[in-house]
This record gives sequence, structure tokens and C-alpha cells, in this order.
Amino acid sequence: MNTVLVGAQWGDEGKGKVIDFLTEESDVVVRFQGGSNAGHTVVVGDKKYVLHLVPSGILHEGKHCVIGNGVVMDPFDLMKELDQVESWGFPLKGRFHISERAQMVMQWHRALDKAEEAARPDGEKIGTTGRGIGPAYAAKVGRYGMRVGDILKPNFPELVRKQVGDANRKLKALGAHELDADEMVNLYLPMVPALMPYVTDTIQFLHESLEADKSLLFEGAQATMLDIDFGTYPFVTSSNPTAGGACTGSGVSPRAIDRVIGVLKLYTTRVGEGPFPTELFDADGETLRTRGGEFGATTGRPRRCGWFDAVVARFARRVNGIDYWAMTKLDVLDEFPVVKICTGYRRKDGFVYTTFPADLDALAQCEPVYEELPGWQCPTSHITDYAELPENAKKYINRILDIIGGKLGVLSVGPARETTLRINI
Ligand code: GDP
Ligand code: IMO
Ligand code: MG
Repeated sequence: MNTVLVGAQWGDEGKGKVIDFLTEESDVVVRFQGGSNAGHTVVVGDKKYVLHLVPSGILHEGKHCVIGNGVVMDPFDLMKELDQVESWGFPLKGRFHISERAQMVMQWHRALDKAEEAARPDGEKIGTTGRGIGPAYAAKVGRYGMRVGDILKPNFPELVRKQVGDANRKLKALGAHELDADEMVNLYLPMVPALMPYVTDTIQFLHESLEADKSLLFEGAQATMLDIDFGTYPFVTSSNPTAGGACTGSGVSPRAIDRVIGVLKLYTTRVGEGPFPTELFDADGETLRTRGGEFGATTGRPRRCGWFDAVVARFARRVNGIDYWAMTKLDVLDEFPVVKICTGYRRKDGFVYTTFPADLDALAQCEPVYEELPGWQCPTSHITDYAELPENAKKYINRILDIIGGKLGVLSVGPARETTLRINI
């Protein structure tokens, strides 16, 4: 059984937690896009682990974890994270693999990310994580990127000097600090011995795993509405976090994928700039942020919070082909007397969008259309059996499923590993 797991909203749906849960029944966990802009949290006992580049399956001994060709990998961030994972007591040797085809995020990409963001006027800022993601993907598509395999080649210093020279011209034009090419060469070369043992042909590894009937689990980072094609462009990330990205970002064919799971927070959050139709600016928004602990796992920024948006979720089901939902953070809604579901966006002329419009100017003119349901106003975090959920919580979930389609596979009622209910999967 090969599974693709994607975020169905604007990120931070709880993908890390659900990946950790599904790793039990998988053999290999694969990241296929994004980079250290991701922050995936797994809570085990009283310990909280946040992973950025390393797949969230790493906390299960013996499972293989792969950084696929579609990822942009910052060797600094990776080395730091590998040290951290080993210090937590999870050995990596022999079970962690990096594609030699993956692109690298270099210091100059990070510098460009920050300089480009600073140069954008208000209203056009993206609110990036500053991890160099956009410039690294721009380099990849522009065909001047640096792949992991390049760091192992004898001409690596010349490549660095050429790239730093090109980046410096851009940085200068943006009025930003330029970088010293020799300093960069000396910064990266010492990392080679530590990186080398993990670099491999992951396409070969994944296909051998498939031939041996192993189960692959693809761990999406970011989410559908941050997708470069399907998201709220240009307020998006620079990759395809949607299900198709799992194939292009790993070298595994769509024919090998058996199911797609969408992770869906039972309200909505977004971090960074860009449209968010159900955003709340009142006490309810503050309650969601506080109860949900909605602060970025990567940047610590407070997340914007709002009601559940069924337009977004249905759109996500369509573009990803979601079979099952992993619904998370039900418990965060426990105290609300009323819960709301957005079913459409109403334009001033009365027209209601029931699918996400491409035109953000048109969207900005819209008001969300809400259905209101009674809350359940009792705790749910201790519940281990779906049947024991309060009736109003079941009604809320079922109404959402009516509107968006798909089946409920997993329900999460708290941050800890044990607070995960297997429903229908
Ligand atoms: P990801 O990026 O999709 O992996 O999500 P993040 O880790 O950035 O954010 C999800 C946050 O919600 C983390 O702090 C998780 O520990 C927490 N979390 C996940 N599921 C639940 C849940 O069902 N209830 C509560 N209260 N917290 C949850
Ligand atoms: P996980 O995997 C939430 C957002 C940034 C910004 C936009 C572009 O933890 O769900 P980038 O640095 O990628 O160029 O920033 O995308 N963003 C995320 N928001 N969760 C994430 O990852 C995100 N990764 C990027 O805030 O708005
Ligand atoms: Mg996150």
C-alpha cells in the first residue's frame, strides 16, 4: 500500500503527527518537495519533536526515510537537524537517504529570499519563511541550480564562485549585502564528508523497495493552497505540495500510488501574507490561536486563524484526488457554543463561488457564506472511540463530509500520539 499524504489548506494541518501515526504500517517515508520551510511536529510522551527536512517517520526505528529529488535541501539546516535527531536517540546510518538529484539551498539563496522580500512593497510581500526556498526553486527551473551531487564533484569550488558572482549582481541591485565566494567555498567543503554517506540514487532505492513489496508513505510539506499552481498565487510557496508532486518529486509513477490522504484542520489557519476568506479578527480568532497553539513551528510567527472553509477543502479533494481525510484539532473547538462552516464566497452582485477562484481581486470583493452548527461544549481529547464523540461533534464532521466528499480515515483530538483515532482506513 503506497500512500500520498498532503496538506489540504494553508499548511500546519498536523501532517507530521499523521505521518508519525501512519509510519507504523509503512516501510519508507519520502519527502518530495519543499525544504526547511516546513515545520512538522510530532509529540511523543512529554517530548515535542519538530522536523523540517528529515521525514517525520524518522522517530520509528528501522524505518527508511528519503529526501527525494523534488526537495530543496539546505545542507546547513540538514546537518543541524541530523545532529538533533541523533541526539534524540534515533540513529540515521543506513536508513536515511538523500537524492543526488535534489537541489541545494545555498547561503546566497537565503540572502536573495530575504532581499527580495524586503524589496517588495507592502501588499505584495509574501511573508516567506526566509529559508531560501523561492530562489532555490527559481535556480532549478532556470537551470542554474546546484544539485546535491554537485557538492561531491571536484569542480564544486568553481561552481560556487560562478553562482556567488551571479547572486551578488542580484543582491547589489536589491541594495543587499554581497557574499564572499571564497568564504562560501570554505563554508561548504568541510560538510562533504558528513553528507556523503547519505547521498544516493534514491530512485533506484525506491524502486527496489517497490519491487520488494515495501509500503511507501509520501510526506507532503506545505499544502494545496500554497501550491505554485493551485494556491493563492503569488502568495504561495515555489513547489507542488499537491499529490502529483509526490511522483515528480520522487521518481515513483502515479500507477504505484494506491491512496491519497488529505490532512484537514477542523478550522483554518494561515501563516504569512495572502488571501484568507474565513479569517477572524475577533475574540473567536484569538481563542483558536490560543487553544490551538497556533504559532509557526519554523518561524514562531502567530498564525492567522478562521472558521473551517469547505470551499478550500473540496477544491483540495479535487486537485489531489483525496480518498481519505485525516481531520485534526477537533479538541480546539471544544468550547465554542457555535461552529461555522464556509460553503461559498458571495460576490457583491450576488454570485456565489463554490470553487476557489483564480482571480484574487475578485475574491477580495467576496464575503464568506456560513452555515452555523451548535457546538458540543465538552472535552474530546480523552476520547479513543469515534462512537463516544459528542453528537454535535459528529454532526459537524458529517456536515463537512457531506459538502466536501471523501471518507474520514483518521481523527485527531490532541497533539499526543495516543490522541489519534483510526476510523475507516
Ligand atoms: P504540520 O506542518 O502540518 O506538520 O503541522 P505543525 O506541526 O506545523 O502544526 C500542527 C500543530 O498542532 C502542532 O503543534 C501539533 O502538535 C498540533 N496538533 C496536531 N494535531 C492536533 C490535535 O488534534 N489537537 C491539538 N490540540 N493539537 C494538534
Ligand atoms: P508546513 O509543511 C505554513 C508559507 C510561508 C509564506 C509562503 C511562502 O509546516 O505546513 P516560502 O518560505 O515557502 O517561500 O514561503 O508559504 N509556508 C508555510 N506555511 N506551513 C508551512 O509548512 C509553510 N511553508 C511555507 O509562510 O506565506
Ligand atoms: Mg508546520
